[in-house]
Amino acid sequence: MRIIVCENYESLSKKAAQIVGSQIILKPNSILGLATGSTPVGMYKNLIKMYEEGLIDFAKVKTFNLDEYYKLPVDNIQSYHYFMDENFFNHVNIPRENIHIPDGLASDIENECISYDESINNSGGIDIQVLGIGNNAHIGFNEPTINFNKGTHVVTLDESTREANARFFNSLDEVPTKAVTMGIGSIFKSKKILLLASGKNKAKAIYDTVHGQVTPQVPSSILLLHHDVIMILDKEASSLLNEDDYESVNDYEKVK
Ligand code: PGA
Repeated sequence: MRIIVCENYESLSKKAAQIVGSQIILKPNSILGLATGSTPVGMYKNLIKMYEEGLIDFAKVKTFNLDEYYKLPVDNIQSYHYFMDENFFNHVNIPRENIHIPDGLASDIENECISYDESINNSGGIDIQVLGIGNNAHIGFNEPTINFNKGTHVVTLDESTREANARFFNSLDEVPTKAVTMGIGSIFKSKKILLLASGKNKAKAIYDTVHGQVTPQVPSSILLLHHDVIMILDKEASSLLNEDDYESVNDYEKVK
């Protein structure tokens, strides 16, 4: 695990875009695993800029998103389909047929989950998976639980997650209670993982992630066992880490 601590959200976003951008330059037909939420928005802005400047071309890129709310219409402005169009897909040249987001409206949701994982595998697997992290250390919508869930599945959202996401809805009641998410196993198969965290409210989750005990109660802790993880943090998100924590990581870098 490599931890990059950035001065602020702007430099975190730029660094993340540079890593994803270089992946695309080196492998134009890259398979990207993408995330929603506030954290990656700055990264998407920087990637769009790199595209507009002609530095990167998405014509051969394929994408798989981590998750989607269950039973929320895709034209609902809180759906992750809508979010991705607004924040990224409408601004770059990824062919529509190359974009994959779990279908929370599928009539046979179990089959949808199985075929989502199959599509990822058939594409050759995710080259780089971008992750945010929940205040409760969830990745995707894999909430703290008693065992690591392997494949894409339907999950009941924690109340803390619904409360955290209520800021995007008119009221807490409107926040869906369920979602479809790639499982920890689906995420873990990615060749490279890029986790982004910004702000003080993520500091505890980040501390728990690198602190050592791999447990499904801290879903992100599985990342300690992955061979190629980069965590990009801003100062606030890294504020609970100390020298002892770095024993469990391979590298540590500070970026202005
Ligand atoms: P956020 O969400 O980026 O909006 O903080 C991250 C997450 O819940 O995974």
